[in-house]
Amino acid sequence: MDKKVTVVGAGFVGATTAQRLAEKELCDVVLIDIVEGVPQGKALDLMQAAPVEKHDAKLIGANGYDESAGSDIVIITAGIPRKPGMSRDDLIATNAGIIKGVVTQVVPKSPNAILIIVSNPLDAMCHVAMATSGFPRERVIGMAGVLDSARFRTFIAMELDVSVESTHAFVLGGHGDTMVPLPRYSTVAGIPITELMSKERINALVQRTANGGAEIVGLLKTGSAFYAPASSAVEMAESILKDKKKILPCAAYLKGEFGIQDLFIGVPVKLGRKGMEQIIEIKLTVEEDAALKKSAAAVQSLVDIVSTLN
Ligand SMILES: NC(=O)c1ccc[n+]([C@@H]2O[C@H](COP(=O)([O-])OP(=O)(O)OC[C@H]3O[C@@H](n4cnc5c(N)ncnc54)[C@H](O)[C@@H]3O)[C@@H](O)[C@H]2O)c1
Repeated sequence: MDKKVTVVGAGFVGATTAQRLAEKELCDVVLIDIVEGVPQGKALDLMQAAPVEKHDAKLIGANGYDESAGSDIVIITAGIPRKPGMSRDDLIATNAGIIKGVVTQVVPKSPNAILIIVSNPLDAMCHVAMATSGFPRERVIGMAGVLDSARFRTFIAMELDVSVESTHAFVLGGHGDTMVPLPRYSTVAGIPITELMSKERINALVQRTANGGAEIVGLLKTGSAFYAPASSAVEMAESILKDKKKILPCAAYLKGEFGIQDLFIGVPVKLGRKGMEQIIEIKLTVEEDAALKKSAAAVQSLVDIVSTLN
């Protein structure tokens, strides 16, 4: 392949991300983890699936960063996931240290890479990655909105008994309980769901979406969601690798857009070869704007905690 993506963290999200990248034949993949043997074993196992899955992507596993040199994209999934009863925010101190260490090692090997951050608490970890890397905001992007929107789309399709492919949804804000699903901009075949469902049903789906990660944590008991998170990270990577310029909700560093300054938060973004190529500012109602500002305040409080950790 002429493209190379490094996935840091060979756990549930990282290994599934590597699998999807390879099976879509988007790039060669380097899988890195601190645990000896795990990235090597998973990469070899995935390579042995290639003849059956019919792709020629190469996968290698490593415990160091030499193999990652010259990556086009580095997807960071390293860190601890939450357990039942934990919020994403409970992971902050452990994962901030991990992200800092990872990014410090990634940057000298791949100074031109685009970083896609997955580890939680997502928006705060994007701050750590941007500060540590010194990269411009175009090359540090967080994965959350694609996943949250996919969850909303799933629930809309289930509710209306329609194909998920006919659905479209937008979820803005931080990746947490304060996320802001936007029913007005969520559609089935272009028809806003506000025309297709009662307010009560929409509110129920919005609630289930905001609680989507916790619902799965509660079922799994030993970890958090990984299939849909991996799919979401790969959709972002694909848009960048193929320069598709998809408009996807991603955590981006705002410099005044939506009236928010110097903060990572989920907004519609154009993803292309240069990374975050544009932030699409959509007009929000007074209520939506208030919800986004509330979400921004929640992210800001985590960023403040991160700054006390240094
Ligand atoms: N943004 C999102 O929407 C979203 C969705 C799902 C999961 N997540 C987050 O992604 C992260 C990973 O989740 P998971 O389910 O794959 O967890 P996991 O425990 O299965 O995998 C994490 C991996 O990171 C590795 N690791 C730890 N420190 C490392 C380091 N310094 N360098 C390299 N590897 C290191 C661990 O050994 C482990 O294999 C968690 O923080 C989770 O909360 C985010």
